[in-house]
Amino acid sequence: MTRITCPVLSEKIISAEEAANFIHDGDVVGMSGFTGSGYPKGLPAALAEKGKDAREKGEEFGIEIYTGASTATDADGVMADAGVIRKRSPFQSDPSLRKAINTGETEYVDTHLSHLAQQLQFGWFGNLDVAVIEVAAILPNGQLVPSSAVGNNQMWLDLADRIIIEVNDWQPRAYEGLHDVYTGIGVPPERKPINVTEPFQQIGSPYLQVDAEKVVGVVHTDAPDRNAPFKPADEVSKAQADHIVDFLRYEINQGRLPDSLFPIQSGVGNIANAVLVNLANSEFEDLTSYTEVIQDGMLDLIDAGKLKSASATSFALSAERAADFNANIENYKGRILLRNQDVSNHPEIIRRLGIIAINGMVEADIYGNVNSTHVMGSSVINGIGGSGDFTRNAYLNFFVSPSVAKDGAISTIVPFASHIDHTEHDTQVIVTEQGIADLRGLAPKKRAQTIIDKCAHPDYKDRLQDYFDRAVASNPKGLHTPHLLGEALSWHKSFQDSGSM
Ligand code: COA
Repeated sequence: MTRITCPVLSEKIISAEEAANFIHDGDVVGMSGFTGSGYPKGLPAALAEKGKDAREKGEEFGIEIYTGASTATDADGVMADAGVIRKRSPFQSDPSLRKAINTGETEYVDTHLSHLAQQLQFGWFGNLDVAVIEVAAILPNGQLVPSSAVGNNQMWLDLADRIIIEVNDWQPRAYEGLHDVYTGIGVPPERKPINVTEPFQQIGSPYLQVDAEKVVGVVHTDAPDRNAPFKPADEVSKAQADHIVDFLRYEINQGRLPDSLFPIQSGVGNIANAVLVNLANSEFEDLTSYTEVIQDGMLDLIDAGKLKSASATSFALSAERAADFNANIENYKGRILLRNQDVSNHPEIIRRLGIIAINGMVEADIYGNVNSTHVMGSSVINGIGGSGDFTRNAYLNFFVSPSVAKDGAISTIVPFASHIDHTEHDTQVIVTEQGIADLRGLAPKKRAQTIIDKCAHPDYKDRLQDYFDRAVASNPKGLHTPHLLGEALSWHKSFQDSGSM
């Protein structure tokens, strides 16, 4: 049965190639898509073709693209390969796009995920010319049933001059009722509190609203999300997860957390997923989650009866888990909710609910400054995503990484972080398979000793201690946060020169 039941909009059905004609060189385009879910499946390939055609004719075709977060090879990937993405924000994870960013072909603005909607609303990125939004269905009254991510979709629909809607038959029609789209954030100084006082509280509409007059095309697609597999939990990730679970037990014993903990946020990536898998095997019950992405591990927790509810803005599931979820979506209604990302990641709500935030990192320095985004200070991997939104405002935050990367050639605990996304003021607990460094309430020199003692790999521990001791000794007065500036980045330099730190 057709998913496009609105008479006005069903008259606007066109092919992706025809729709691409509404997007012109230099346009600012808002696309749906968040961590490989809910991105448009038709327009990106058509835009890539348009770019190739233009190049053959000696013409220019390039656009700026703003999404919710990362998309996929068949979206960011094909467009990056065709050289049509001039500028991009926020989080991305596609190898071709990453290459285009790191070679300077694409400008990349790595902004916090809760901020981007407001930044476009206030014109920081210019006028939004076009919105390309995937949905699961169009209702007779023209309202849109969102698909596997809400992201910034409502803001893009509100701001854009022209709108292209993609209706994807692969997405379950049964998505209807699983979303909560809130449009009441408003603008300063008239903003009112966002009334989410419980993690699963619904405050908006299940539907996206669209002005049908702005819709220039409706494109029919039938294609899956990017459902990438997670690495199976190994000894390292199991050890990290054990440290976190033990720590949470300790906090309960200290009377600082209830038995059901506070709502959990778990970041993207293999490590964060492995922690969730471990929580499913723990004794904790009646857990809640107020997070950004629902990964396999989150569904495991729900299935194990450990997690009462999960509020997020999108899914990031393996293909197997996505197929299972899509077939059984009704069972998850009332326990899973997708919101717009300026609500799922809103600092006000994160602070109010007292979130426990668990995120991966690339490296941390001995004082607790954390790099989540850059290899050797220069090459961006994915972006800051929601890690800043959650970490700074959480009640309790964990940064997790193996103690070494690249088969031991890199220590992830370093004298000085080569790029800093989260400052020592934000970081509370650092976790590697070696141990857990509780930095809460510690002054810098005690933080450094704790990180070295608990988290460093044995191959690097003595050298970190030596660096720290000499930094402290280098000034008789000790200094507050002692460093040897000539040496602070020497480990990274050594990796660049010799392939090992
Ligand atoms: N130096 C160089 N490379 C490093 C590194 C370091 N210190 N630490 C990790 N890496 C590399 C790994 O070797 C791996 O590379 P590979 O893909 O070539 O094997 C890659 O980074 C990913 O590391 P992995 O150990 O598999 O961890 P992950 O999948 O959990 O990802 C982050 C870790 C930091 C990249 C990921 O968590 C991220 O993008 N974080 C930023 C955004 C965020 O936190 N969002 C959360 C809010 S939802």
